[in-house]
Amino acid sequence: MEQMSKDETIALRQKYIGKSCQLFFKQDPIKIVKAKGQYMYDEKGNVYLDCINNVAHVGHCHPKVVEAGCEQMKLLSTNNRFLHDNIVLCAKRLVETMPEKLNTCFFVNSGSEANDLALRLAQIHTGNNDVITLKGAYHGHLTSLIDISHYKFSLPGGTGQKSHVHLASSPDIYRGKYNTKNHKKEEICRLYTEEVRSICERVRDEKGVGICAYIAESLISCGGQVIPPENYLKEVYNHVRAYGGVCIADEVQVGFGRVGTHWWAFQLQDVVPDIVTIGKPMGNGHPVAAVVTTEEIAESFRKTGVEYFNTYGGNPVSCAIANAVMDVIVEENLMQNALEVGEYLLDRCVELMNRYSAIGDVRGRGLFIGIEFVTDRESRTPDPETASFINKRMKENLILLSVDGPDNNVIKMKPPMVFSKQNVDEVVCALDEVFQEMEQTNSSRGSKIVEIEDKTK
Ligand SMILES: Cc1ncc(COP(=O)(O)O)c(C=O)c1O
Repeated sequence: MEQMSKDETIALRQKYIGKSCQLFFKQDPIKIVKAKGQYMYDEKGNVYLDCINNVAHVGHCHPKVVEAGCEQMKLLSTNNRFLHDNIVLCAKRLVETMPEKLNTCFFVNSGSEANDLALRLAQIHTGNNDVITLKGAYHGHLTSLIDISHYKFSLPGGTGQKSHVHLASSPDIYRGKYNTKNHKKEEICRLYTEEVRSICERVRDEKGVGICAYIAESLISCGGQVIPPENYLKEVYNHVRAYGGVCIADEVQVGFGRVGTHWWAFQLQDVVPDIVTIGKPMGNGHPVAAVVTTEEIAESFRKTGVEYFNTYGGNPVSCAIANAVMDVIVEENLMQNALEVGEYLLDRCVELMNRYSAIGDVRGRGLFIGIEFVTDRESRTPDPETASFINKRMKENLILLSVDGPDNNVIKMKPPMVFSKQNVDEVVCALDEVFQEMEQTNSSRGSKIVEIEDKTK
């Protein structure tokens, strides 16, 4: 098929695609025509280093994953009312990566579907309806999930907070409600978890009911690459369970070994959720997702007598692909790579922070890293302008990053797991050059970029 020019593509997109679908880099969007590993190629052959596509988990278009999909596609794709090996093997593989109690799978097609099903399971199992979610959280685009995604419902044109939804502060120890500037480090965790407990109590006292679910990402991506303090999930889960609720870990972004030390990010906090939702990296770009839960919760669902049917969930092609993704993670030792390269990336970003005052905080686990920009370190005032300027200049240098967080001042990195130390050097050198450039031009933005003389911090 002959390729359209970029302008033609833009024109057709403007004409036929809903305007609420947004593009990265609206002023000068990128037209990507192919990708491999951690690299994406535009229509002119420019090669971008991809630091943001956590979906292309084992590398864009990994040959083993592509082949698994193609081969199964030639043989059969149908629904899971027929017996098939791929779905049962996929479930077995997933369960083997989870704590023992999490031993039952349901297959769906997207992270949103997974979270919607998780909520349904939680409602059926607990008989309750009130959900605790975090400020700044995003859990998907279905109506049920927009309701629990403060990231969306709180926007000026959003649907607002529903009466069954309760917001707890994001456990951000740098610039959250309780932070290391205003509170003793050892108190922060309790302050955040106490908020969750008091929500549970308020729901009981005011409505006379228990909690349905607490849902959170195990590391918070849309909320600005937040790493909850140690023991946060343990204490929250205890409170929620004491008030009748179940705990849902949304691992749609952060699962499948991204944190380096474990398959699942909730394992960093040594907890066992009641329901885990997984998606994005599971299909390396193919739509496949799942809910993994306990036998008891699955049994409550069965007892309703209502069949769970999903036309595409768990089809042989999707499961062949998911199985190949898990094979590649193991065969190519990608968790170890995430650990080593992630630590190197974090160290090198800390070096930058030690040199440039615009960076207030650097944090992360494995290949999940955030760089937070502030106008000054004392006040920790967010600096979205610098974050977005750097993002734009990096794109011009053919490096793809993204900006997020409640104040749009956090640069996120969550590259394919094949990211290398050499890639880290490229990113850090390019960032350094942009900082230098900003300093030299002494533009209105550049005046904020102060190189720190004392490099010992
Ligand atoms: C944390 C989290 N949960 C759920 C979803 C929804 O997944 P999907 O877009 O596959 O429906 C997303 C998507 O960005 C997400 O970031």
